[in-house]
Amino acid sequence: MAMRVSLALCLLLFSAGPAFAQATDTALLIGGCQGCHGIPSIKGTHNRDEFAAFMRAFSANERPGTIMGRISRGYTPEQIALLATHYARPQ
Ligand code: HEC
Repeated sequence: MAMRVSLALCLLLFSAGPAFAQATDTALLIGGCQGCHGIPSIKGTHNRDEFAAFMRAFSANERPGTIMGRISRGYTPEQIALLATHYARPQ
């Protein structure tokens, strides 16, 4: 049951993607990620450069993924920098 709810939440957030993609406010940007990456969180798992490199690799199809390719292409380099700053491990 919990699984079905979180999947539905993911799909909901994913379909709202383009609206978030206009944002330059970090709180709005991460709203497009937290539905799937809230628990367990991606926060603190990579440093800033690694995180941005993941996002670029997903969008260039250089890193295999089920969904992150499409998601990462919805964000500008500036937005990815903001996301990387938010999610990165403190360095
Ligand atoms: C619909 C669910 C979903 C959403 C929304 C989502 N992700 Fe992901 N994310 C995934 C999945 C699933 C993976 C594993 C790779 C794959 O299958 O695409 C992943 C992998 C990642 C990874 C690689 C982590 C690692 O250590 O391998 C990063 C970084 C990441 N996501 C960042 C983000 C950011 C930033 C956002 C918001 C812009 C976001 N994700 C939104 C589902 C999601």
